[in-house]
Amino acid sequence: MKKIISFFFISILVIGLLAACGTSEEASSNGSKDKDSDKKVLTMGTSADYAPFEYIDTAKGDEIIGIDVDIAKAVTEKLGYEFKIQDMDFGGLIQALQSGQVDFVLSAMSATEDRKKSVDFSEIYYTSKHMIVSKKDSGITKVEDLKGKKIGAQLGSIQEEKAKELAEEVEMTVENRNRIPELIQEIKAGRFDAAIIEDTVAQGYLENNDDIEGFTVEDADGGYAIALPKDSELTEEFNKALKEMIENGELDKILKKWFEGE
Ligand code: ARG
Repeated sequence: MKKIISFFFISILVIGLLAACGTSEEASSNGSKDKDSDKKVLTMGTSADYAPFEYIDTAKGDEIIGIDVDIAKAVTEKLGYEFKIQDMDFGGLIQALQSGQVDFVLSAMSATEDRKKSVDFSEIYYTSKHMIVSKKDSGITKVEDLKGKKIGAQLGSIQEEKAKELAEEVEMTVENRNRIPELIQEIKAGRFDAAIIEDTVAQGYLENNDDIEGFTVEDADGGYAIALPKDSELTEEFNKALKEMIENGELDKILKKWFEGE
C-alpha cells in the first residue's frame, strides 16, 4: 500500500514537472513575442518642428513622423533594438545626450567640428543649405539687405551661428527662438524682418504660405548625421547600419518617399 501511495505521489510529481516544462516551453515560444518587448528600448531625442525630417502632421495624428524617424526605425530594427522618441527643443539635444537622457539624436543635426568635441557622429546622410526667409514685400533678396534688420534663428542651431557670423559683416540684430514655427510666426507678425532656416525645411513653409519668400546662402556647415554620446558603444553599430542603408539604396528610398511622396 505504501509503495502504491509513493508511486502515486511520484507520478504526480513527474506529471507536475512535465506540466511545468510544458508551460515553460510555452512561455518561451510566447517569448519570441516577449523577446520582442524584451528588446532593449533606446530613446531617440529630436526636435519635432522640422518637416519633412521630424514633425507632427496634426491632420494625420499626434505621432512624430518623417525622414529621421524612418531612419531610426530602420537602423534600430537592423540592430535588434526598439526605440521611443523624446521630443524637446533643439537647443537641449546635445545636453540630453551627454546626460544620458537620450541614447541617440536624429534631428537633422549637422555634424559640426564644434559639436564633435562633445558628441560622436555617424556618417552624413543629408546635406543642406541656409535660406534667408522674409515677408514677400520685404525687399530682402541678398545678405546686404539685412543691414539694420532683425533676424531670427533657432536656438542652438548652426543657423544661429550663421546669423551671428553674418552680423559681423552686415550690421543687424540676431534673436533666437526654440522652435521653427515661432520663427515663421515672428516674420508674419512683423517682429522679425527675416530668419535663417535650412532650405529643405524653409521650402515647406514657402509652399504653404504665399506671403513669405526666401533665397539660399552658401552651404551649411557639415551634413546631417546621427549623434551619439561620446565614445558610445552604439556609435559603431549605428554607423554600420546607416552605411548599409546609404549603400543599398534604402536611404534614397526614404528620402524619395518624403520628398516626392513615393
Ligand atoms: N541642421 C541644423 C543644425 O544642426 C538645424 C537642425 C534643426 N533641427 C531640428 N529638428 N529643428 O544646427
